[in-house]
Amino acid sequence: MTESISGAAVLEVSGLHRTYGSVHAVDDVSFTLAAGGSLGIVGESGSGKTTTARIIVGLERADAGQVLLHGRDRTGHLRGKARRLARAREIQLVFQDPYLSLDPRTRVGAVLRETLRLHFPDTDHPRRITELLDQVGLGTRAADALPRQLSGGQRQRVAIARALAVEPAVLVLDEAVAALDVSVQAQILNLLADIREQTGVGYLFITHDLGVVRCVTDAVIVMRHGRIVESGPTACVLAEPEHPYTRLLLESVPRPGWDPHGIAAARRAL
Ligand SMILES: Nc1ncnc2c1ncn2[C@@H]1O[C@H](COP(=O)(O)OP(=O)(O)O)[C@@H](O)[C@H]1O
Ligand SMILES: [Mg+2]
Repeated sequence: MTESISGAAVLEVSGLHRTYGSVHAVDDVSFTLAAGGSLGIVGESGSGKTTTARIIVGLERADAGQVLLHGRDRTGHLRGKARRLARAREIQLVFQDPYLSLDPRTRVGAVLRETLRLHFPDTDHPRRITELLDQVGLGTRAADALPRQLSGGQRQRVAIARALAVEPAVLVLDEAVAALDVSVQAQILNLLADIREQTGVGYLFITHDLGVVRCVTDAVIVMRHGRIVESGPTACVLAEPEHPYTRLLLESVPRPGWDPHGIAAARRAL
């Protein structure tokens, strides 16, 4: 059934559910990521974005539903380390705070070398490390740096380089620029746009920020209380949102003449 569209789709998610006690964190979520595409998942805090991401990456189990990559189910058990590694490679996660995922004692070059050793033991690692650092706009000198010697933006570049090192089909970016200053944010978003163009990697771009969605996605789904309330091409959804919640999210972006009190009232009424 899914066979027919998997040629154009890299990732197909259908009917995902996950509850925690009485909380329906993910409630019947389905979507498709086109090969080399960039899909935004937007919604307020608690809407189920991270849980969806963790299920897709394989860090969390779903109560029901399916995640297909290139038409193959990712949720079943696999025999053998090599196969499990191959599956782990397919989808990589980049999250908000790279400090939490980078060992403070490991230099940047060693971070990349470890990843390459694990996934591609037979390749020329120094050459690939240079290539990766270059790809994320860090010079080769960065290889000698420790995480604390880098800025937040540079650390996020390292996290992106490490994710790209395994040549994934999909990068899941969960609030990956949320902790950065606006100007650094713009640099990282531009970098990600360039990388997608060069490599053809697909993005699942999770954010609460509609400005980010506008910059780097071609389609978007809007989540609220675990459910998808609206979806479509980014330009259409942002220009003519159909769901009141999407309109509210758009109106919540500060701009001249912005009225936070009116928005709070509208939110209570929704
Ligand atoms: N491990 C967990 N245990 C209990 N509740 C959780 C867990 N993870 C998420 N939740 C709940 O699920 C809902 C969705 O959370 P989350 O997916 O983190 O949303 P978002 O990323 O959109 O902020 C929230 O109500 C959250 O409290
Ligand atoms: Mg989250």
